[in-house]
Amino acid sequence: MFDALPKPPLHNMPVRIEIETTADAAAVAALVLAAFGPGRFAKTAERLREQAGVAAAFVAREDGQVIGSVRLWRIAVGDTTAMFLGPIAVASESRKAGLGADLVQACVDHAAHDGTAILLVGDMGYFERFGFAVAPEVRMPGPVDQARVLWRGEDQPVGLVRALL
Ligand SMILES: CC(C)(COP(=O)(O)OP(=O)(O)OC[C@H]1O[C@@H](n2cnc3c(N)ncnc32)[C@H](O)[C@@H]1OP(=O)(O)O)[C@@H](O)C(=O)NCCC(=O)NCCS
Repeated sequence: MFDALPKPPLHNMPVRIEIETTADAAAVAALVLAAFGPGRFAKTAERLREQAGVAAAFVAREDGQVIGSVRLWRIAVGDTTAMFLGPIAVASESRKAGLGADLVQACVDHAAHDGTAILLVGDMGYFERFGFAVAPEVRMPGPVDQARVLWRGEDQPVGLVRALL
């Protein structure tokens, strides 16, 4: 009898935050390209990511489709090891539903697990709610708007950011 009940529409399926797998790479690349355009490859943050190892990566998945993505990269600032967050992107039709917050929270939880701080280059207007603060003495290895260099962690370090493998 219950087999005859209508199935829920696909767009009502729950969105899940999961660890990114190698099979997700193409979908993540397409999502990030759509969100930022090809211009992001010119950015200092992208130069840093090219040199750094991935510490963790998460996707938001709905009905098997990747609709959100964030990555964490291994870095150090002076003597302090940390993780560099980005890029973070949510598919345009899925925004403003809390998915971005869920992806940031997955990163914050991952960092909290081993007591690591998080650095990113982004909008304070979005990231302040997660405990990020402007880091005036953290120097990126290239041109960047210093007001967008944000840190979440106990003590803000002083020094140049470098990639770790
Ligand atoms: C930023 C992004 C990941 C947020 O994803 P999301 O799933 O919409 O995020 P949430 O649902 O958790 O939060 C949405 C809220 O953040 C706000 N917000 C989004 N981007 C913002 C920004 N750059 N600055 C300030 N607020 C921002 C939205 O207006 C919305 O506000 P509301 O809740 O009052 O309506 C998504 O907008 C995106 O992919 N943008 C393009 C890529 C990008 O710019 N990424 C880096 C951001 S620095």
